[in-house]
Amino acid sequence: MIRDQRMPDHPQAHALKDDTFKPLLQRAQDLGCAACVLGPTGRVIAALGTLDESTEHLLGSHFVRDHIAADPSLRDAPSPVTTQLIPGVFLLLVPLGVLDAADCKLLAIAVSAPPSGPQWESLCRAAQTDPQIASEALSRFGTTDSRALRLLTTALWGAVKDLASIHERDASLESFTNQLSECYDTIDLIYAVGRRAHAPLDVPGFLRFVIDRLHGASNFGWVGLCLDDAPAITTPLRGRHAFAGSIGDDALPALASLLTLGSESDPARAGAAPIVLPFAPGLSSFMGEQVLVQHIVCKHRSIGVLAAGAKHGVDRVMSSYDIQILEALAGYISGFCESVWLYEDQREMFLGTVGSITAALDAKDRYTFGHSERVAHLAHRLAIASGMSPQAAERVHIAGLVHDVGKIGVPEAVLTKPGRLTDEEFAHIKKHPEVGHRILKDIPLLRDILPGVLHHHERIDGRGYPAGLSGDAIPIMARIIAVADTFDAMSSNRSYRSALTREKVLAEITRSAGTQLDADLAHLITRIDLSGYDALFAKHSKMESMVTQKAA
Ligand SMILES: [Fe+2]
Repeated sequence: MIRDQRMPDHPQAHALKDDTFKPLLQRAQDLGCAACVLGPTGRVIAALGTLDESTEHLLGSHFVRDHIAADPSLRDAPSPVTTQLIPGVFLLLVPLGVLDAADCKLLAIAVSAPPSGPQWESLCRAAQTDPQIASEALSRFGTTDSRALRLLTTALWGAVKDLASIHERDASLESFTNQLSECYDTIDLIYAVGRRAHAPLDVPGFLRFVIDRLHGASNFGWVGLCLDDAPAITTPLRGRHAFAGSIGDDALPALASLLTLGSESDPARAGAAPIVLPFAPGLSSFMGEQVLVQHIVCKHRSIGVLAAGAKHGVDRVMSSYDIQILEALAGYISGFCESVWLYEDQREMFLGTVGSITAALDAKDRYTFGHSERVAHLAHRLAIASGMSPQAAERVHIAGLVHDVGKIGVPEAVLTKPGRLTDEEFAHIKKHPEVGHRILKDIPLLRDILPGVLHHHERIDGRGYPAGLSGDAIPIMARIIAVADTFDAMSSNRSYRSALTREKVLAEITRSAGTQLDADLAHLITRIDLSGYDALFAKHSKMESMVTQKAA
């Protein structure tokens, strides 16, 4: 155990581990001399717990300190030196600079015979120790001659260099372990991000995940991601951003200002290696001295930036390792954005095709012009309001679009008949959910919406068709479409009646809650925002009157 660091007269000595000098002091004792470590001012900063008190007093005495300080060849010696303190008492001084303890020295004391006499007594008085006890204590280590003293000096110098070599190996091993650990964290990060990048539906969730994981696995004080909010960017990506660490949403304008960096003057540069900014124009100082910026590239243009800064730790300068991590992650984010954009393009194309077919069907009857699109809109709103995920609500929207596709087999004369339908005609119309189901059932992309099509005319009390299902046995998608369908039918003119007012429609919906319609959904539609529906309705009315005028 190191007994004494009571003289912390040098900050570097403080920083050393407690057991830094223990092997060295132990080696000196094994070689037959008492030793301690002196700090830069000559005071004892470390000694073995087994060293007797009188010897320690001697080594730490101002007599010894003054003797060393008075002689530059001792004080500043770059290699081991010996000196005679008083006749027969020798000091060995070994500099410890090679142990990263600059200005510290190993001090050992050896005697040629048990010391005595006036000079010895004077020395012991200065050290406030008993001459007899101190003499006996030193003699226990043995006596030395000039040859043994040289050998001792060589052995201690060798011990210091051995220790330095061990420290160096320890430091290399620690550095290697740290690098290995960093590599593992990075591989884990890249792997986790790669796995998530294949699901293009949850854009905010993915971006949040990347930013949080990057911040957690790196030494960056902050990381941020900002996607362009230009109208040309596909809606799910437009203007998205995420931050972690010491910056927040207030940094968005500064981060957005980096979007044009390198890509405006030279579009080919966008997506090349990350850019290290020695200072970031427009970014306040809290973002750190260096900011690392990497463009997110999609459809051959920069659509955003991934940035990081305020690096902390031993090395605060952005390294090639930091650059590689950002580059790899930006690659995954770019790939993810490409998938989102592609998915959105396909979705729009699909919805456009489905919309065209259903619009053509609705147009067979001027009274149902735009009906499917409005039902789809309302059903989507209801789905979101009832707590469905955006993905599930999207499917409800599609089901709303195609819910009446089975009417394609019903003659136009029946659909537009102004008077009362015959039993036969009504039976024909009642087949449209099953006909629709048959038409769509072989389209893999629409398989999950079939229950919405087949059962949208079921009633909660079991008196609907085609299966006569009741209550929760009716699929939720079908219950939602039923409410939206009923709402739009009553809000529109029909060949046999005029449109009802909003007030009457809502009253009728409420009255039907629990009998015809799902009670919760019926009440929900009275509380949702209908402005989007009204805008659609106005658009369809205008289109319908234009078509009617043209026909006339
Ligand atoms: Fe229908």
